[in-house]
Amino acid sequence: MAIQDNSSQNRWSSRWLFVLAAAGSAVGLGNIWKFPYIAGENGGGAFVLIYLVCIALVGIPIMISEVLMGREGRSSPIHTMRTLAKKAGRSERWALLGWLGVITGFLILSYYAVIAGWALNYVWLTANGTFDGASADSVAQAFTDLQADPLQMIAYQTAFMVVTIWIVGRGVTAGLEKAIQWFMPALFILLIVLLIYSFNSGGFAQGWAFMFDFKWEAVGPEAWLIAMGQAFFTLSLGMGTMMAYGAYVPEDAKLSTTVVTIALLDTLVAIAAGLAIFPIVFANGLEVSQGPGLTFVTLPLAFGQLPFGALFGAIFFVLISFAAITSAISLTEPALAYLTEEYNAKRQRVAISLGVVCWLLGLGTVFSFNIWSDIFIVGELNFFGFVDYLSQNIMLPLGGMLITIFAVWLLPKEMVNRQLGISSTAMFWAWRIVAGIVAPLGVLAIFVFTIWPLVRSLFNL
Ligand code: TRP
Repeated sequence: MAIQDNSSQNRWSSRWLFVLAAAGSAVGLGNIWKFPYIAGENGGGAFVLIYLVCIALVGIPIMISEVLMGREGRSSPIHTMRTLAKKAGRSERWALLGWLGVITGFLILSYYAVIAGWALNYVWLTANGTFDGASADSVAQAFTDLQADPLQMIAYQTAFMVVTIWIVGRGVTAGLEKAIQWFMPALFILLIVLLIYSFNSGGFAQGWAFMFDFKWEAVGPEAWLIAMGQAFFTLSLGMGTMMAYGAYVPEDAKLSTTVVTIALLDTLVAIAAGLAIFPIVFANGLEVSQGPGLTFVTLPLAFGQLPFGALFGAIFFVLISFAAITSAISLTEPALAYLTEEYNAKRQRVAISLGVVCWLLGLGTVFSFNIWSDIFIVGELNFFGFVDYLSQNIMLPLGGMLITIFAVWLLPKEMVNRQLGISSTAMFWAWRIVAGIVAPLGVLAIFVFTIWPLVRSLFNL
């Protein structure tokens, strides 16, 4: 077996490559189609402040927990959990937490690839001038047509999966690092280009006001929960991604500052995305929305009305595709590392098998938009709705909560202090209170808040 295949031997070439890789995982669809909108709708600048508090008190402590456990265990999340549980004198059933992560990553990737496939398709459509001067109806129709056409969706989903699997199959240094070294700088440059474009679009003042004016009256308790949920999802927490990436972090990297840098980069991109998007929307007098509607209808329509819209629209969709691919590769790492270790297998082969199964599962998402759209699994959730809900609202928060609880309350103190370089008692207690109490309670709140409506509808409460 080649050394390359053994994840306990893998290391990021530098602390910076880890920062870029983790930021690549964090920066994804969530930053571009979700953050800007929820910030604007829930208090603008006031929401941004609340969000920063949530990043600091919930996101960063959980990320530190994941990375420190990964670096201590130096293997896939499943093996890491088993080793750490043993060292801590706890039940080896904690390895199930690793399994939870592996499965969650698999589920998320299955639909992430389908949606990233839409973005790939839109690079082509916008560059072609399809939306130049198009009417609102025809832009909306183009998106409806795509969703109604399973073959078209499968073609792009397949393309996205093939690229992802090809990258991850090459291993940490030749695959992940190479891809990250290209995609991340490209992503930053494209974002800056779009910012300059949006600055000159004529809607900048309005876009800025939408995102940053302090609207305290729009801040309710719900804003806190939304901010917390977003902080958690955007940092790719709760499924062992950061644990798997943490296993490759060099010994001498200081964890706290490294994690803070990753969180800052992620936040910066989310804010910049808002400043790139909203001015373009407002310059055309359009209504803002979120999610697929914002990305695949409102924005193509807006670009279509502006000079050089085809070019900058295409740039925007390339940006989303890059953001999606660096997230997708991180979603495979827990499973990939586990299978290569457990079966002493060639990474490339494992990657291909994993890719095929994930691709098959993704077909369920493809069909959820057309031939299976009315087949409901639970309540009003069709296949895609169900997989999305289960992974994001149940499995991720559960994983995140258990991970910090384990790291703070069950791991030996000396181990944590050594990993974090904590020397003073005050620092130690600050860490315990924030990561061991505040963060899990925050996640618990999101959890209860999001699953309550489902429970209520299922049991007619
Ligand atoms: N953070 C990504 C986004 O904002 C999504 C993502 C990638 C993710 N890997 C993850 C979320 C792992 C949770 C867990 O779109």
